[in-house]
Amino acid sequence: MSAAEVPLEAQREVIGVVGVGWVGLVTAACFASRGHDVWAMDVDATKVESLSRGRLTIHEPGLPELVAEHAERLHFTTSMEVLANARLLFCCVDTPPTYSGDADLSRVRSVVDQLSGDSEQALVMKSTVPSGTGQSIRRDLPSLAYVSCPEFLKEGSAVDDFLNPDRVVIGADTGDEWAADAVAAIYEPLGGELVRTDVASAEMIKLASNAFLATKISFINEIANVCEEVGADVTEVARGMGLDQRIGRSFLNAGIGYGGSCFPKDVSALKQLAGNSGYHFQLLNSVIEVNELQKRRVIGKLTKHLGSLVGKRIALLGLAFKPNTDDMREASSLVLSARLQGEGASVAAYDPVAHEGAAGLLPSIELASSAEAALQGADAAILVTEWPEFADLDWASLAGAMSRPLILDGRNFLDPEALRAAGFSYEGIGRGSTGRARD
Ligand SMILES: NC(=O)c1ccc[n+]([C@@H]2O[C@H](COP(=O)([O-])OP(=O)(O)OC[C@H]3O[C@@H](n4cnc5c(N)ncnc54)[C@H](O)[C@@H]3O)[C@@H](O)[C@H]2O)c1
Repeated sequence: MSAAEVPLEAQREVIGVVGVGWVGLVTAACFASRGHDVWAMDVDATKVESLSRGRLTIHEPGLPELVAEHAERLHFTTSMEVLANARLLFCCVDTPPTYSGDADLSRVRSVVDQLSGDSEQALVMKSTVPSGTGQSIRRDLPSLAYVSCPEFLKEGSAVDDFLNPDRVVIGADTGDEWAADAVAAIYEPLGGELVRTDVASAEMIKLASNAFLATKISFINEIANVCEEVGADVTEVARGMGLDQRIGRSFLNAGIGYGGSCFPKDVSALKQLAGNSGYHFQLLNSVIEVNELQKRRVIGKLTKHLGSLVGKRIALLGLAFKPNTDDMREASSLVLSARLQGEGASVAAYDPVAHEGAAGLLPSIELASSAEAALQGADAAILVTEWPEFADLDWASLAGAMSRPLILDGRNFLDPEALRAAGFSYEGIGRGSTGRARD
């Protein structure tokens, strides 16, 4: 039976969602779309006001339509008391890194502090938290049922990921089986394998999954760097590797490093968690270091072509940490802009949706209104985010508009042969000077 065929009455719940950011808003809208009555609470009154008027606070494909279509079952509030009727409270607040790299659990703690410990209510933790968090919350509020249900959605395809999960991890300890069953009942219609386990293992599955994906990225980036030395093309290498089912194709795209609100902080949180428990997670140190160096290698590639960057105009295509999102958290563009300006270059940038968020974070760069405007008179362009529309630019005319038609393709996204035919000097990541066309 598909999700659409399951009778809604069988699954209807009054659901509380705490924290209405990427995860919370998608969770709220998707549960509303499955027939549940959702009460979503956030401390940010401006955000709640905006959402109550139907104005979305994030760019996420498919989300505006879902929110509009199910508005009658979606309620936004700043009051925690309003959520008292919900049996399941999904905690979706942010868990950013502290200076030490540990997960900052202060927002999770402030949610817990507002709970009465009602034995009829369960806290369902969707925020990414280190193993041990659930146990410590349970210790403080022994009557509260606790379920770890980490979220695996990806920004840019969050709605689709949520409604069609690969797997749903549900961790609960002895005594909280009823809450785990209730969570399982609302996820079951979505399909995807249900992984029922204990809380500590569920918490660890999330951190280990993100750390593994980050490791895969840093691995292929190191392979790319070796490819540049030996004249191999990393896109060919990844294609050949990825066909091995033990390896798989995904996350084998070499580039200028991973960013975003999850990978950097979750890798660091796992490293810290291990360290705090007395284990030195050596591999993760390298994963982090490789990623940091990868963002900076771009500067060396530019100077190879341009010499000193003092007074040069460098155009960045894309600012968001990945396409189809306006999220700028830990975006590679932030490091890159700072490094370029540190070398004396001026930076002009264009992103189809991330301008608003970028303006506050990158006040000293020129935010252009189009790719063409950013590239006008530029000495080089760096493709930072692989927005699909960049593949369709009129590259031949852009070559004429630049001071020097040089492109560094930081995501191996463009077709090297087409770019060269358009008059560009093209350099990708790990593609040597030959860089073959994409499949
Ligand atoms: N963004 C992703 O792609 C993603 C994917 C999987 C898991 N996660 C995890 O989910 C969690 C949330 O991430 P996000 O990207 O949605 O964060 P976010 O910053 O977009 O949203 C968090 C929201 O929580 C609100 N908030 C903070 N403290 C609060 C409190 N005490 N009470 C009520 N609301 C409060 C904030 O105002 C904000 O709206 C994090 O732990 C993250 O690691 C994120």
